This record gives sequence, structure tokens and C-alpha cells, in this order.
Amino acid sequence: MRDINKKKDNDLMEKIVSLCKRRGFVFPGSEIYGGLGGTYDWGHFGVALKNNIKQNWWKKFVDSRKDMYGIDAAILMRQEVWQASGHVAGFADPVVECEKCKRRFRADQIEDKKKCVECDGKLGDLKQFNMMFATKVGASEDSSATSYLRPETAQGMFVNFKNTVDAFHPRLPFGMAQIGKAFRNEITPRDFIFRVREFEQMEIEYFIRSEDWEKYFEYWKGEMLNWMEEVGIDMAKVHELEVAPSDRAHYSKRTIDFEFDYPFGKKELFGLAYRTDSDLKNHKLEYVDEEEKEKIVPHVIEPTFGVDRAVLALLLSVYVEDEKDGEIRSYLKFKPSIAPVICAVSPLLKNKPELVEYANTKVYAPLKAEFGRVAWDDNGNIGKRYRKQDEIGTPFCIVVDFDTLKDDTVTVRDRDTGKQERVKVSELQNYIKEKI
Ligand code: GAP
Repeated sequence: MRDINKKKDNDLMEKIVSLCKRRGFVFPGSEIYGGLGGTYDWGHFGVALKNNIKQNWWKKFVDSRKDMYGIDAAILMRQEVWQASGHVAGFADPVVECEKCKRRFRADQIEDKKKCVECDGKLGDLKQFNMMFATKVGASEDSSATSYLRPETAQGMFVNFKNTVDAFHPRLPFGMAQIGKAFRNEITPRDFIFRVREFEQMEIEYFIRSEDWEKYFEYWKGEMLNWMEEVGIDMAKVHELEVAPSDRAHYSKRTIDFEFDYPFGKKELFGLAYRTDSDLKNHKLEYVDEEEKEKIVPHVIEPTFGVDRAVLALLLSVYVEDEKDGEIRSYLKFKPSIAPVICAVSPLLKNKPELVEYANTKVYAPLKAEFGRVAWDDNGNIGKRYRKQDEIGTPFCIVVDFDTLKDDTVTVRDRDTGKQERVKVSELQNYIKEKI
């Protein structure tokens, strides 16, 4: 039974990876040169999906609140930032190397720590491998020019704490939010976009008084769960894991991982940490409360979300297969607000100029101007177009046919039910607005 399920799970991952490539969501990085492990390139629909996820997150956690300040800090920062934060000394994974084939493994991810799983060779001593990518800034080669590609967006917020306080004079509690790239030289990148070397994070550092940390920890736990549900992640597959003290990051006094049931196991999706006052203290920063006439070092609650893992969990949540007339159909049941394409417009036949003209000028152009995420699709027959749009996750397909020329109505097909209804062209924008 277990083997059958495992095969099913492997099949599901293969289907998702193949769909992502075939339909222009995600491609392997540097593919035409043999690929670069742990890197992926995002195609047109993948970018649209990520943008929708990020915009939705920003709208909820920044735009609709008055206690949150956005930032877009530089990826390269002085090495002192990473020395102070503890990353130079401690951002490392345990690694062992095979003395025969020279392959490296993460020691905490292999069962037999003595024998290589690839060639049976002897594994060497355990070493610590720092996961930050080092680089040089400027033309100088000496060590003072060393910088790192940031392994978390968080430090960009801590080092701008004073700038933000001076510019906006916020009162506690308040937060800073950032969306951006992070880089980790993972020893064993794996499972498609789950563990990669270049990824994106959406992070919040919420500054509080120390005595309030439990209250705000609970509050942010709720907010994180609400957001996951809002974007359409299958909540039955999300579990909370209280991270044991020995497994917590060096700065954390309490961490919850939100885990997801991926086909390859229950693993981390997002995290929530109580970072205490560790970071602000490390950077020698403080906060002056003008009203209370006191200086304090605020404590920090940190909700953190990986964009790539959000995409993977979402794809796995919305992938559906059904069967009609003996034919298997697969589709992505995205919410319209998250789908890369809201609707696709098609002339029934592409060699009929009167249909193409009508579809283009009276249907496609106004919808495109209103919603942006509108596709033009005149390839293949209608059945093929529907199958393609189903796989992209387009909620509505609109077809202009010969009746349209007589009565100004179009066919709107619903992705999930396959049902079609006639809608007046003048009503289309309202029809779609209501659905989203
Ligand atoms: N600032 C805290 C921090 O970076 P983390 O748990 O190391 O905490 C936060 O990372 C989130 O970033 C994770 O929950 C995950 O969603 C994402 N993430 C971390 N490493 C990743 C990787 N190698 N590939 C893809 N996403 C990753």
C-alpha cells in the first residue's frame, strides 16, 4: 500500500514539474548548458503567479495596515552586517564528503553517516559548511572587499531600523516588511523549487515590547494561517510544528514551522520566530519612546514566507484531475484573484476575419485594458484551447462565434464545471468582476 502511495506521490511531482515546463511556468536554470543545480528560471505564467502571490501578500500585510513600513534593501551589504548577525560564524549545515567519489551530503539528511549511498565509499569527518555565497565588491581582491549575497531578507530590515524610525516616527508595536531574493549555497538542493539556491522571501519584522511577545506570536500565527487560506493553499495539508530548542536558529527563543504535506514528505513551508532583541542588540540599535521618555531595545516577532514554496504548495493544492467521457483532464483550480490568467479570449475560427476582428476589438481589448491578465488564444481547435487554458488554470474561456455577430453575446466556459453560458458582451466586465 505504501509503495503504491509513494508511486502516486512521485507521479504527482512529475506531473507538476512537467506541466510547469510545458505551459511556461518554471524552467530548469541554465538548461541549454546542462543546467545549474538549485536554480530555476520563471516563465511568463510563473512570473504572473508569483507576482499575484506577492501583491496579495503586500496588500494584506502592508497596504491595508497603518503599522507597517515597506523596504527594498540592497542584496549586497557590508560583511560586518553578517558578522554582527551571527551568519558568518553560524549559518552552516553539517556536511560529510565521500573519500572515494567526493560527493558531499548533508549529515543530518543521511541515515548511514559512515558509508556513501552512491558508491559505498567511506565518508570523511563531519564539517560545518557555511551556506552564504561570498563575493567581492569593487576591484580590490583583499578580504575587506568580501561581501555576501544575503541568505535572508531580514537583516536588510534590521539595518534600516533607525532610518525607518527617523523617517516615520512609528510607535511600538510596528513592523517592517520586505519581499526579495535570498541566496543559500544548499549542499543538496532538491525537490524542484522546494530547496533551491536562489529564492524569494516575504518577511516581516514586527517590533514589540518584550512583555508582549506571546500575545503577538499568537496574533501573527493567526494572520499567517489566514493568508495561506486566502491564497488557496489546502489547509488540510498544513501542520504546525513546535521547533525543538536544539533545532532553532541561533537568534530564536521560540519557532513554529508551518509544514505542508508535499508528495516527498511533510516539510517546512513557512516559519514564525520570536527573535527576541537579538538582532537589534547585535547591530547596537535602540528605540527612544518619546512619550514614555525611555530608551529600549524592542523585541521582534518574525513571520517569514518563501515565495517559491508558496508557489509549490499552491500548485499541489490546486492540481486536479477528473474524467469525462473516458478522457482524463487536468487543471489548476486557482482562485481567480491568484490565477496567472483571468480569462482567455478566442475567435471560434481564426481564418474568419469578421470573428477575429470582433473578438479582438470588442472583447479582448476592453478586457485586457481592465484586467491585464487576459490571454488571446486562437491556436488549435476549441477543445485543445480549453485543455491548454485548464492546465494554465484560467478560470474563464470566452469564445466569439457566429451568433456573437448577430446578438452581441459570447460563450463563457467555466474551468471547474466545464459549463458554458451566453453572456452579453456589454456585461462581460461586470460578470468577471463579480466572480473575482
Ligand atoms: N529570516 C528567517 C529565515 O530566513 P528560514 O526558515 O531559514 O528563516 C524562511 O527561511 C523561509 O524561506 C522558509 O520557511 C522557506 O519558505 C524559505 N526557504 C528557506 N530556504 C529555502 C530554500 N533553500 N529554497 C526555497 N525556499 C527556502
